[in-house]
Amino acid sequence: MVVAIDGPAGAGKSSVARAVANALGFTYLDSGAMYRAVGLAALERELPPSVVAPALRIELGDRVRIDGHDVTEAIRTPAAAEAASRAAADPAVRAALVVQQRQIVGAGDWVAEGRDIGTVVAPEAAVKVFLTASPEERARRRAQQIGADLQTVLAEQAIRDERDQTREHSPLEAAPDATLLDTTGLPLEQVVERIVALVRRARADAQAGG
Ligand code: DC
Repeated sequence: MVVAIDGPAGAGKSSVARAVANALGFTYLDSGAMYRAVGLAALERELPPSVVAPALRIELGDRVRIDGHDVTEAIRTPAAAEAASRAAADPAVRAALVVQQRQIVGAGDWVAEGRDIGTVVAPEAAVKVFLTASPEERARRRAQQIGADLQTVLAEQAIRDERDQTREHSPLEAAPDATLLDTTGLPLEQVVERIVALVRRARADAQAGG
């Protein structure tokens, strides 16, 4: 079973997706880490992301590795985030990563987090959630997470949001059958509880349907 959790940066996807995976005993897939890995490798190798993406060996788990090198912290810098956003706007990069992501979630039980999981990677996902939060709340969380200035994060976030939402290929949008969940002011446990309840209901419906 796939639980798809999509939404903009700072909506709380990572914390929520990890906690939901833990609660259900599912495996967590951070698809954004793959775009970040491609962006970082393109920066470091001074090559276009579309050239880098198909040949890159990305290992995900407790640590993130590119061709064996640990980049867990390096992919979280503002420069890597910017490079990831550019890489994610390239259809050739998306095509290469979507193939890998479909393979990954094709077997077993997954909580997959990203922007296009419910729309492109796993449109058949049993549960789809689109997490949102106000821009101010999202920037506050991000600034706290990376120890950066709030106004700078807010300004950079607006540019990235705009690019993620208006790009021609797989723009950030909720799947028509996704459950919208605004996490502004909601404690993590409540968000997790709601998603776990959606999964239980989907399981019960699947069993009832044979
Ligand atoms: O979730 P994140 O901040 O780690 O994502 C990094 C970048 O990759 C961000 O610009 C959005 C993009 N992304 C995407 O386009 N599709 C995904 N499934 C995941 C991330």
